[in-house]
Amino acid sequence: MESHMRIFLKVWRQPSASASGRFVEYTVEHVSPDMSFLEMLDVANEGLIAKGEDPIAFDSDCREGICGACGFVINGVPHGPDRGTTVCQLHMRRFRDNDRLTLEPWRAKAFPLVKDLVVDRSAFDRIIQAGGYTSANVGGARDGNAILIPKPVVEQAMDSAACIGCGACVAACKNASAALFTAAKVSHLSLLPQGQVERTRRVVAMIERHDAEGFGSCSNEGECEAVCPKEIPITNIARLNREYFRAMFVVAE
Ligand code: SF4
Ligand code: FES
Repeated sequence: MESHMRIFLKVWRQPSASASGRFVEYTVEHVSPDMSFLEMLDVANEGLIAKGEDPIAFDSDCREGICGACGFVINGVPHGPDRGTTVCQLHMRRFRDNDRLTLEPWRAKAFPLVKDLVVDRSAFDRIIQAGGYTSANVGGARDGNAILIPKPVVEQAMDSAACIGCGACVAACKNASAALFTAAKVSHLSLLPQGQVERTRRVVAMIERHDAEGFGSCSNEGECEAVCPKEIPITNIARLNREYFRAMFVVAE
């Protein structure tokens, strides 16, 4: 017979950015070890709705670790205890019966709270809009073998492109820096031939937008790399810095 767990939750409840927030305790019964963390919250919310109470607000979409919509802090760690795992891919078998879990939203000035565990991450969209693209119309997709790119470069670029924009790196950083996110986007395009033409303009525009959104500076703590569900390495930030210094000595495109 399948065993079930009881989980004690302490959840940050805040109706809106302008309202005050507080932790509220809940007990979730009959939690299957096979449930994902978000499915456990679905069960908790069904109970709240049945009692006529407001369900806990949290973001999710794909629930398979690829969209970046989900994310909150579990017992002090963005996305919870498993490395390289989004909260939607975290399973309750990772926890024990009667575990006590504290859930909080990302806390950063540039990510204003919307409700409970949901924050507004549109600042990331504006960083992408500032330069995370190739503006030239190059027509339809070319044959994959028409532009020869060394395999190690392709691998590096694709590793950087794996960033899903979840914001955990910001939540983990004591400076609330989005350096790892910005670095992943800048690296992806600066490594590939298609991204070379606008390389200088791009890095300057994206860093200026990053700072204007209120994200802090990177002080090389490495917390971002430790919590990133896509395991984006901090070497991307070193590349971002090199790209920026290069841009300072290159005539604007
Ligand atoms: S760098 Fe990692 S933690 Fe930061 S937004 Fe991208 S996937 Fe999320
Ligand atoms: S819901 Fe898409 S990554 Fe978690």
